[in-house]
Amino acid sequence: MKILVLGAGAREHAIVKALIRTGTAKGDLIVAPGNAGIAGDAHCEPQLNPNDPLEVTKFALEHGIELAIIGPEAPLVAGVSDALRDQGIAVFGPSQKAAALEGSKSFAKEVMAAAGVPTGMARECSNLAEVEDAMDEFGAPYVIKADGLAAGKGVIVTSDRAAALEHAAKFIEMGILVEEFLDGQEVSLFFLADGKNVLPLTPAQDFKRAYDNDEGPNTGGMGAYSPLPWLPEGFIEEVEREVALPTVQELAKLGAPFVGLLYCGLILTKRGTRVIEFNARFGDPETQVVLRRLITPLSTLLYKAATGHLETAPQPEFSNDVAITVVLASEGYPETAAPNRPIYGLSDAEAKGVEVCHAATAFNETKDGEEVLVATGGRVLSVVATGKNFARARAHAYEGLKQIHLEGSHYRNDIAAKVAN
Ligand code: AMP
Ligand code: GLY
Repeated sequence: MKILVLGAGAREHAIVKALIRTGTAKGDLIVAPGNAGIAGDAHCEPQLNPNDPLEVTKFALEHGIELAIIGPEAPLVAGVSDALRDQGIAVFGPSQKAAALEGSKSFAKEVMAAAGVPTGMARECSNLAEVEDAMDEFGAPYVIKADGLAAGKGVIVTSDRAAALEHAAKFIEMGILVEEFLDGQEVSLFFLADGKNVLPLTPAQDFKRAYDNDEGPNTGGMGAYSPLPWLPEGFIEEVEREVALPTVQELAKLGAPFVGLLYCGLILTKRGTRVIEFNARFGDPETQVVLRRLITPLSTLLYKAATGHLETAPQPEFSNDVAITVVLASEGYPETAAPNRPIYGLSDAEAKGVEVCHAATAFNETKDGEEVLVATGGRVLSVVATGKNFARARAHAYEGLKQIHLEGSHYRNDIAAKVAN
């Protein structure tokens, strides 16, 4: 089956590696635009703009693509899945309308309310006076969310009233959602969805804050591990029954069937499981650990979802080995990202048995015509390691990271530390 993967991050690199590991032939894979690391595993089309519905559709038709897998949210929001589907191409990625579940937090709240899905109480605000009223209603810590796509930087959780208001002021034009603070462990649980049915993958935990001990600003995600040994029995079934299925059914009722990856971001509070966010795509960096453990052919699962036949899909199976991933970030991330600096030691890291998923890397030519790998953005790469237990997987991952040199870079040292004994 000819497959086109859209995207250029570590998530897409993890998808590509998982496709190959579970049986897809390299020759059947095209990634657009891809990146320097992905190009080592599959053919890339760096010139193709993944956010242009016409360009992508033309390319897919010309190359006989039978399945398009959309990695990031931007092509979904741009209507790329709709355009491909109109041409009869199977797409793993929801329509523009269904992707609003991620793009609009107020739409997500409306869907959850209609479907009876448990979530935090929230107020929609269009000016700062309303924001202050809602903050008074819920009290500190304050949870302020921009009502639109903000690349993982739209949410602030803080007891500092001035900082909360400053954040609200920055995003007020998008609309602001003030939410009650929910206390508990966070879980990311992914479901494949075909518009009517859902099929769960395996749970993971993401580390959103920039520094150890959950200090520092929120980021797109600094690391993850899977599975979560502390989850209560029956958790996956409960989320399927109470969250994923009713959400997909509600979207179908609204004429926006959800075909793709329903990312349920959950908090386990004392009063029960609550949804804190939905995404309409694979999570990054959770995908690096979830798909690292997948045994079932990924192309079959995604094709069944894309063609509306999840009921005949195999049950996704996962290795008993655990997986962790640690993100290497550029100096200054998440506020800024240092400019193109060389990265050394990746092959030494890989020789230690870790997998490296590239996010923001490129080859630059030096004066003497040599190619050097450089970091081109905030989250540069994810090191992924597996093991019989978390102590071993952690030891592997951090051993791998020690081999990698990027001036000024930083990573968290405490990924999966709490489960590693
Ligand atoms: P979101 O983009 O909605 O996932 O929010 C980013 C991060 O902010 C989440 O992963 C949580 O760590 C935190 N967060 C979001 N909503 C809440 C909430 N209601 N209570 C506590 N923390 C939250
Ligand atoms: N890891 C969080 C996200 O993908 O949105």
